[in-house]
Amino acid sequence: MGRIIKIKIAKPFLPLISTNKRIKLYWGGRGGGKSYAFADALLLKGLEKKLLIACVREIQDTIKDSVHRLLSDRIEFYDLKEYEVKESEIVNTLNGTRFIFKGLRNQDAHKIKSLEGVDIVWIEEAQTITKKSWEILSPTIRKDGSEIWISMNREEENDPLWVLLGSHQDERTLIEKVNFYDNPFCPEELKLQAKECLAHDESTYRHIWLGEPLSQGAHKLIDAGLVKHAMQPKISESTSPLIIGLDVARFGDDQTVFCLRKGRKCLSFLSFEKKDNVEVANIATNLIETKRPLRIFLDAGGVGGGVFDILKDRGFKDIIRGVNFGSKAINEERYANRRAEMWDHLRQWLTEEVELPNNGMLYDELCTVRKKYDALGRLLLEEKEEIKKRIGRSTDWADALALTFAEPVYDKGHTRFYGNGQVCLEEMFQASNQRMPVW
Ligand SMILES: Nc1ncnc2c1ncn2[C@@H]1O[C@H](COP(=O)(O)OP(=O)(O)O)[C@@H](O)[C@H]1O
Ligand SMILES: [Mg+2]
Repeated sequence: MGRIIKIKIAKPFLPLISTNKRIKLYWGGRGGGKSYAFADALLLKGLEKKLLIACVREIQDTIKDSVHRLLSDRIEFYDLKEYEVKESEIVNTLNGTRFIFKGLRNQDAHKIKSLEGVDIVWIEEAQTITKKSWEILSPTIRKDGSEIWISMNREEENDPLWVLLGSHQDERTLIEKVNFYDNPFCPEELKLQAKECLAHDESTYRHIWLGEPLSQGAHKLIDAGLVKHAMQPKISESTSPLIIGLDVARFGDDQTVFCLRKGRKCLSFLSFEKKDNVEVANIATNLIETKRPLRIFLDAGGVGGGVFDILKDRGFKDIIRGVNFGSKAINEERYANRRAEMWDHLRQWLTEEVELPNNGMLYDELCTVRKKYDALGRLLLEEKEEIKKRIGRSTDWADALALTFAEPVYDKGHTRFYGNGQVCLEEMFQASNQRMPVW
């Protein structure tokens, strides 16, 4: 005997159950009803027929991070006895529908094969999904008629999934914006919070409650346009001295990165995973012997200190300089610490006609770092740990580049600069027999 179940789904979300689309992307601010509607719609679909439903997100360390709890609450609320909630799965014991839960970070194509039979995948908090995760996931969802449901609060202008999908609406893609005022079930308390936020800080309101990406420039240290411009080739050769920045990995999954820069041209990056201090020191030694850098700046806080000591023992103390990101800035009045100072010199450098290798990872890292100011009004950057939580990895490449700006380097005679002002300045220095500082 049939049972009548009344599930209320707000109007903007009806296409979740009434149409077939390869991609259904819902975006907007807090309280739009996305999570509830997705959960309810999936539970309903899973009652109608046997489906394999995967609920994924970028990072899922434990099942608690997933929508498992929300689905269980909705099952209880509607009293859906068909569903049995297990520790890491939810199963419809009548028709065999299964909900599974997975984090995409660090999954390789092989491990994610278990998703090949999936009918619907729900990507929750999709603003945090990396391009890499998407490239592994999307071809895996290959069953005929399979759908990809995406719920996201926009984080930044260039959220990878937004760049890939949001701007390419076609007949296979549904894109829908929903905010709290579109949600007929939005609690009064949330509406009040939104109102208070608007009264205090409009830009935060637009981000949190209207789901708009954080505006470029307002919170970011480096403007994306500058980085784009720098990534266009424009300098054939630089005769400036070679400076190397070395960021030594501090966490297991970080990379050890060398950045090679000559004046206005950043030549290349070398990156390594899982190298011990001696191996890193050996690579540095090789670079010193073959490329003759004027200076190597290395992050000497934490594990970097070990590499620094080895290189010093090998007699390279004139070439290497240890830099502690957290220590006092050279210009203490403007910068809260060395890290902010180096990054700001990097930012200034980017406002000139400079050249960077065209690399997507470097681009993302440079554009992601947020700026703030301390109580004394000095520039401070978003903590490394915060960035890591937000984007899922460390800004190793950009830190290596920033390290090349740790101190001005003095070089007698060899420097050649591009741009009139710089050449004049250099000649002046030479004429007065002073040494020209090179950042
Ligand atoms: N179908 C629904 N029935 C009852 N309350 C709902 C429903 N949909 C949303 N809500 C209420 O609206 C709030 C915000 O919805 P939520 O799905 O968390 O929004 P979002 O995921 O877009 O931030 C929920 O906390 C809940 O109180
Ligand atoms: Mg939500």
